[in-house]
Amino acid sequence: MAYLALYRVWRPQRFEEVVGQEQTVTALQNSVREDRLTHAYLFCGPRGTGKTSIAKILAKAVNCEKRIEGEPCNACLSCQDINNGNFMDVIEIDAASNRGIDEIRDLREKVRIMPAQGKKKVYIIDEVHMLTTEAFNALLKTLEEPPESVIFILATTEPHKIPSTILSRCQKYNFRRLTLPQISARLKDVAASNGIEIEGEALSLISRRANGGMRDALGMLDQLYSYKDGSLSKADVLEVLGLVDDVFVAQLIDKVIAEDVVSTVSMLNKALNQGKEAGQLARETALYLRDLLLYKLAGEEAELVMAGEQSYEFLKKQSLKADKNQILQSLRMIMETGEKLRFSEGQKYLLEMALLEMADLFAPKEVRSEPVIISQKAVAPKQRAKNESNESHDKNERNDAKEVLWNRLLAGVKEKKIPTHALLSQGKLLGVKGDTIFIGFRKGYRFHKERMEEKANREIVDAVIKEIFKREVEVQFIFLEDSQYNDIIVKKAIEYFGEDIVEVKE
Ligand SMILES: Nc1ncnc2c1ncn2[C@@H]1O[C@H](COP(=O)(O)OP(=O)(O)OP(=O)(O)O)[C@@H](O)[C@H]1O
Ligand SMILES: [Mg+2]
Ligand SMILES: [Zn+2]
Repeated sequence: MAYLALYRVWRPQRFEEVVGQEQTVTALQNSVREDRLTHAYLFCGPRGTGKTSIAKILAKAVNCEKRIEGEPCNACLSCQDINNGNFMDVIEIDAASNRGIDEIRDLREKVRIMPAQGKKKVYIIDEVHMLTTEAFNALLKTLEEPPESVIFILATTEPHKIPSTILSRCQKYNFRRLTLPQISARLKDVAASNGIEIEGEALSLISRRANGGMRDALGMLDQLYSYKDGSLSKADVLEVLGLVDDVFVAQLIDKVIAEDVVSTVSMLNKALNQGKEAGQLARETALYLRDLLLYKLAGEEAELVMAGEQSYEFLKKQSLKADKNQILQSLRMIMETGEKLRFSEGQKYLLEMALLEMADLFAPKEVRSEPVIISQKAVAPKQRAKNESNESHDKNERNDAKEVLWNRLLAGVKEKKIPTHALLSQGKLLGVKGDTIFIGFRKGYRFHKERMEEKANREIVDAVIKEIFKREVEVQFIFLEDSQYNDIIVKKAIEYFGEDIVEVKE
């Protein structure tokens, strides 16, 4: 037998089997029992929360030959035919597929024909908000003068797109996201009946990720099921679904909030080296920040998607350190980055930038400015070591001086803007000649070089250089090994530097 997806096998067949949606279920079941059905229903609510399932149960209940307490029997011919999709009087229309034009036309022609097989004709129109204006108008005409033996069940995830003329003619039911305990309990049953053992943490991870939708929850379980049988751990879930560990993200955000640039970058690298995808990392970081924001605003009431038991502890502490705007801006940044990542080659760097820019957000408002002083020793190497004048020594001192200048430049830039510092620090100071300072980037750091050439970053470097040199010095960013053009410049530069000495005025 062909493999049936768990969510289809586990479609509720009776009102009693529906998880949650208590008010809707009770109201509908009572209407069936008491024969108080109306001719048009509108089911609104998020994906995978039972709209289509309940529509089918209702269709069965009204046509069932042996109905008990408002429930379909699922055994009579009508019930069986409806379950198999062979019942002529239950007509399903998917408005999303071709916007319903032909179907609604067909509906208008046939709606007044008496049921062929059952007691009532039931039209289930899924994704009804997708209907064209023309189709809506046609539907409206029918709803205005509904034939006696017809029931319409319209379902939608986007009720705001439905014309008010239609809305006002339907009895409306709001479907709710299912709660974590509801999803977990169902998953547990489904897992158990398929011989899967599922660890508590894995269970709650899936439930959280389903975001209130049972179909998604079962879909995830399905993926896991085909990958591995026996028992499932949290690690399995993370691996198979390609998710990022919430604790990892929590720790990453800890570093960001602490403006610990080095750890942030190294954590990111580690995750990428382990094969996590930049886009996924951005999405999960966004989810986590969303949780953090909600927690900041709603406290214990917040319904969190990403944070599990362990990361919750991080989240609580972080919410004390970060203010609402910082979190909001971070969230916006990471979401924008996520968008860009889809089109970019420099994925890793974009993500790195975003995290570092976020760290910048958490920096205290006043700029700390301990001036970095270049030691006299390094600045004026010629005054020192008069008695040792061999060439290699000279060269060493030149390197010392360069290093001091470089460090001072980096420190100055870091004070102004952490992300710029992160970019620049991947470069190397080649040297200074006259009024030009040359900074090289190795092949593979094209992204860094290009970003450094952007106005905003350049201005920061210019400003720091001016502070150091007390005069205008032009910065040239060059590739250390790339196109011919650059090679020539580099060679020229290096020729120059051979003779030059770094001069820094205090
Ligand atoms: N309330 C629920 N109780 C039990 N199972 C549910 C429930 N909601 C959804 N499911 C599961 O998810 C599957 C899909 O549900 P259904 O088609 O009813 O969702 P829907 O609300 O119509 O979603 P969509 O808006 O995407 O059409 C069902 O087959 C069932 O396995
Ligand atoms: Mg549906
Ligand atoms: Zn029946």
